[in-house]
Formats: sequence, C-alpha cells, structure tokens
Amino acid sequence: MAKKLTRDEKYVLYEGSVQNPEADIAFINREFKKIRGKEPLVLREDFCGTGSMACAWVAQSKKHKAHGIDLDMEPISYGVQNHLFKLDEEEQTRMEFILGNVMASYDFKTDVIVAFNFSYFLFKQRADLVKYFTQVKKHLKKDGAFFIDLFGGTETRKPLEESVKHKSHTYYWDCDKYNPLTADVLYYIHFKTHKDQVKHEKVFKYDWRMWDARELLDILKDAGFSETLIYWEGVDKDGTGNGVFKQSLKAENCESWVTYICALP
Ligand SMILES: C[S@@+](CC[C@H](N)C(=O)[O-])C[C@H]1O[C@@H](n2cnc3c(N)ncnc32)[C@H](O)[C@@H]1O
Repeated sequence: MAKKLTRDEKYVLYEGSVQNPEADIAFINREFKKIRGKEPLVLREDFCGTGSMACAWVAQSKKHKAHGIDLDMEPISYGVQNHLFKLDEEEQTRMEFILGNVMASYDFKTDVIVAFNFSYFLFKQRADLVKYFTQVKKHLKKDGAFFIDLFGGTETRKPLEESVKHKSHTYYWDCDKYNPLTADVLYYIHFKTHKDQVKHEKVFKYDWRMWDARELLDILKDAGFSETLIYWEGVDKDGTGNGVFKQSLKAENCESWVTYICALP
C-alpha cells in the first residue's frame, strides 16, 4: 500500500496545484481601487486553510493587516509554520489566524472579505448561503467589498477527471458525481508524485452544491448587498483564458470556466 502523504506533503502539493495568491491579490487591489478610489488595507480571508493569501497580503506594506478564519487546525498549523513564520517579526504582528467559524460574529470589520477556492459551495441550502453572506456584509466596512470566486461550464457537471502535469507531481480534479435535480456534486483531488509514480487518491474531498452565477447575484442581493459586479476572463489567440478578468455580463458557454464576483455593502 502507498505511504500516506504527510501533512506537509499534502499542502505543498495542494498549494502548488490550485493556489495563486499573488494573482488574487493583484485582482483585488486593482478592482477595489477602481470601485472605492483607494487601496484596500485590511483583509479577512474566509475558509483560509493555510492562509497563504492572508500572509502574502500583510507582506505588501506596513499598513496592511489580515485575519484568516478556518475551522480546521491542520491547514492552519501548516500555514503558521510555512507562511506566517516566513514573514518577519513585524509582519507577523499584522496577521491573525482565527480557528473559528465564518458564520460567527467577530469584533472587527475589514475593507475586503474573500471566500476563495469556491469554499462557500459547501453551503447547500439557499437559506444558509443567505445567512453566510449576511454575516459577511455585517463584518465589512461601509466602503468595503466582498469577493468570491466561482466555477462552472458544461464539463463541470458530469463525471470527469482532469489532470494537470506539474514539475514534481500531477494534479487530478475529479468530478465523481453530479445530481442534476439537486445540483449536488462530489469532487476529489488526487495527486501523483513523479519521483515514486504513486497516485495518492482522494487527498481532498468536496461535497458541494454547484451554484450558478445568476443565483449567486440574487442571493447576494437578498443578503443585503447593494451592488454586485461579475467578471469574465479574456482569451488569448489560441482561445484559452489569459488571466485578465474584466467586468462583463457577456460570456461564452465554454466547457470550463472560473471567475469572480464582487459585492458591495
Ligand atoms: C476548499 S478549502 C479552501 C482553502 C483555501 N481558501 C484555498 O483557497 O485553498 C475549504 C476550507 O474551509 C474550511 N471550512 C469549512 N467550513 C468552514 C466554516 N464554517 N468556517 C470556517 N472554515 C470552514 C475547511 O476547514 C477548509 O480548510
């Protein structure tokens, strides 16, 4: 039997496959400045996992602060050792990991709240999503902004395993089941490590509901947000995404896409 991945191996593989905190931060900085006419300084990263984005946030300047919230001590402990402790002592004082629930009430408000990597898809009932978005709005400054990412496309609602080859490993994004009546979906992440050619199955599991863009815009309004902006990625000459997201309601019904929504209180 294959040796189980250690905590560190698991998060190194995860972060090397699905995260790009620098690109997310650049997008937020640019859009917030456009909307609010100033730089966002205080971030709350919901479902922060290892908090890689929150830690990268505080490294931007001495004025930046961040709070990362997650229920699970395992990714937090990895993040403390591998992201927080890599910051200098002064930077560390501006970053707070909170072992807690994003649904709870906290005694601080921020310029930006993010819920990335689709984590809010774990709320399967509309009422729970309204409750979560309402809590988010309460914790935003009045000139703040809430950013979520979302994904979809014809290929994301059927059993299908996609793979991406990296230098040291292959990453698999595996849609195991999709129920067209409930929109329940079950995804797994597997990794193959190239050195030993071992495929580690079901390293992460996501029991989610696929939320549609239009539904999300409606739910954000129901949660009290006054305005919502939705973005779409531009394409390169070869038709693949170019990483540049612009506000738009025009979109091509492609096989697989990822984008952002921004909601203003
Ligand atoms: C898909 S991971 C996302 C991690 C990270 N945001 C990223 O971009 O990769 C979802 C995380 O949400 C956390 N989580 C689930 N329910 C939560 C809740 N109600 N409050 C806080 N964290 C929660 C899990 O512990 C897990 O670390």
